[in-house]
Amino acid sequence: MLRDKRILLIVGGGIAAFKCLDLIRRLRERGAAVRCVLTESAAKFVTPLSLQALSEDRVYGDMFSLTDESEMGHIQLSRQADLLVVAPATANLLARMAGGMADDLAATVLLATDKPVLAAPAMNVRMWLHPATQANVGLLGARGTMFVGPNAGAMACNEHGPGRMAEPLEIVAAIESIFAGKLTAGPPQARLAGPDTIELPGTRSEGALTHRPLAGRKALVTSGPTREAIDPVRYISNHSSGKQGHAIARALAALGADVTLVSGPVAVADPPGVRVVRVESADQMLAACRDASPVDIAVCAAAVADWKVANTADAKLKKAPGAKPPAIDLVPNPDILATLSAPGPDRPALVIGFAAETENVVANAIAKRARKGCDWILANDVSPATGTFGGDDNTVHLVTTEGAEAWPPQSKDAVARELARRVAARFA
Ligand code: PMT
Repeated sequence: MLRDKRILLIVGGGIAAFKCLDLIRRLRERGAAVRCVLTESAAKFVTPLSLQALSEDRVYGDMFSLTDESEMGHIQLSRQADLLVVAPATANLLARMAGGMADDLAATVLLATDKPVLAAPAMNVRMWLHPATQANVGLLGARGTMFVGPNAGAMACNEHGPGRMAEPLEIVAAIESIFAGKLTAGPPQARLAGPDTIELPGTRSEGALTHRPLAGRKALVTSGPTREAIDPVRYISNHSSGKQGHAIARALAALGADVTLVSGPVAVADPPGVRVVRVESADQMLAACRDASPVDIAVCAAAVADWKVANTADAKLKKAPGAKPPAIDLVPNPDILATLSAPGPDRPALVIGFAAETENVVANAIAKRARKGCDWILANDVSPATGTFGGDDNTVHLVTTEGAEAWPPQSKDAVARELARRVAARFA
């Protein structure tokens, strides 16, 4: 599909510029010709020589080079391309594009072109979420610029969230969509494709322009089991896998929330774009929740042990021939959900718990919501036959002050997305 297509790649000055090397390779593999324009700051991240070697073409950067202007003016650069791709599209480059600046070759080409433009933004999460950048992106989208990304995830600046440049193959997929006529120039005409994402027409890319109703909101999610030590090698725990809590953290982050996930020991992967704090015991989980507070939203999906061992042994308990097994005294653990729900200046605006029940599921959950003082509780049946603990699916009732609402059986991911959607509606 890309055979003989001519791509003018405008490389902005950001750490993600290194991904352009792979992007060029992927485009060339598909038969496209790639010509590069480099901003002055981009040249600090990738060398013209490497771009030239991979593209097998000259690399342009200096608007005032007389040779370039006579042989290949900025109008020619755009005229000889089928598509302009800006990657990484830094906050500065997007602002210059939105402002119609022509202060270097990259901006001038972008101002002078009548060809479709695809931008792959990459910047610090706060820069991306800044109203100025969002306004620039909106303006450019309305004028016909298409976007791929940014993706959410860990960033070079040690922050998490949206701002990572789309991966080279995602950019290639977006380019192919443009040439297939599925991703057309013009305003984004966003359509709601699901609870997480607003996709541009014709794309299914994770890097599609995202809808972030929870941007600026802080969320705390607990997930997984706790382990309460008996001695240095033994503990009391349960079968929670963390799948439900992690899915909720992921769903809230996908809607733009700044999420801290406090997780007991689990084997599931960290959700992208989420700050993960790993703990073992209920005491540690409570301390981590306090450290993450204040937040706007708290969701307690962890299966916290109700009791801990009164006197944890410092050394491994030994079996002695003929001796009785040791008695283990239990004392109550702190109730994290009730603690977060307690009235006070730092109480989250919305506190959501889970009720893990094996009988009278809804009635017990209604009583539990009132007892713990949370706003909503999701009641789920955890009888072994349901497979809720550790499984991929969940059947829940949402219990609020207004009553109980039965949700259909669905995947834990779908439960998480529906919950995140309700949370977003609550804050709208
Ligand atoms: O992890 P998975 O395998 O995906 O399974 C998901 C799940 C079944 C663990 C999850 O859907 C769930 O029900 N989590 C809550 C488990 C639980 O401890 O329920 P509970 O009814 O005992 O507690 C009620 C609420 O109080 C929960 O929100 C719990 O997180 C919280 N709690 C309980 C005790 C305690 N000491 N501190 C708490 O915060």
